[in-house]
Amino acid sequence: MTQDDAKALVGKRAAAMVEDGMRVGLGTGSTSVQFIKALGARVQQGLKIRAVASSDSSAELGRSLGIEVVSLEEMPEIDLYIDGADEVAPGLALIKGGGAALLREKIVASSSKRFVCVVDESKLVPHLGKFPLPIEIIKMARPLVEDKLFKLGLNPMLRMQKDGASPLLTDEQNYILDCHCGVIEDPEKTAAEIRAIVGVVEHGLFLRMAEVALVAGGNGVTEYNG
Ligand code: A5P
Repeated sequence: MTQDDAKALVGKRAAAMVEDGMRVGLGTGSTSVQFIKALGARVQQGLKIRAVASSDSSAELGRSLGIEVVSLEEMPEIDLYIDGADEVAPGLALIKGGGAALLREKIVASSSKRFVCVVDESKLVPHLGKFPLPIEIIKMARPLVEDKLFKLGLNPMLRMQKDGASPLLTDEQNYILDCHCGVIEDPEKTAAEIRAIVGVVEHGLFLRMAEVALVAGGNGVTEYNG
């Protein structure tokens, strides 16, 4: 099975969890795209739901497929949030934000009764940290935050646009620093240290948030509970 096939399979499985009348959170990234497409197909067949999106791109995709996408202000409580991850470690500790949407993703996940993570098996790791940890920061705080992160040994690098000419801006017009920190031995401690830095808006460590990960691989879709 290719990675794309795995993403499509797990996206479809997650869409099958959605029931009539549910308030649904739409994640961001290539796996979430597969979920949103499968959900859109069900909506076209008559499923009645409302959704909140974790990025402008997911909102746009959802609407283009006929999904009613509203703001979190209009619908502050969500029943089921489906989203991908960059790494999934024991304890369902996640790194997210490879698609630069970590802030809105964490807000939507925190507003949801349930967060189900959807990944292909390449995302399962014994320890977090091989994937650079994204941190969303206020633009003017960049020198201050970078200095503090270097002192913590987290080796931040400003994320650039694809053309490399200018810094990438998130949907909230902030910068992303990708931290090449290596193995994160104690994610809770690292999360607390990052959170204490003035100018940090949010970080990509999602700890004790997902209730399960649906993992697609050679054996189809299996549940990973950490
Ligand atoms: C978006 O900011 C991320 O958190 C994504 O959910 C994460 O990067 C997984 O993306 P893929 O499904 O594209 O691997």
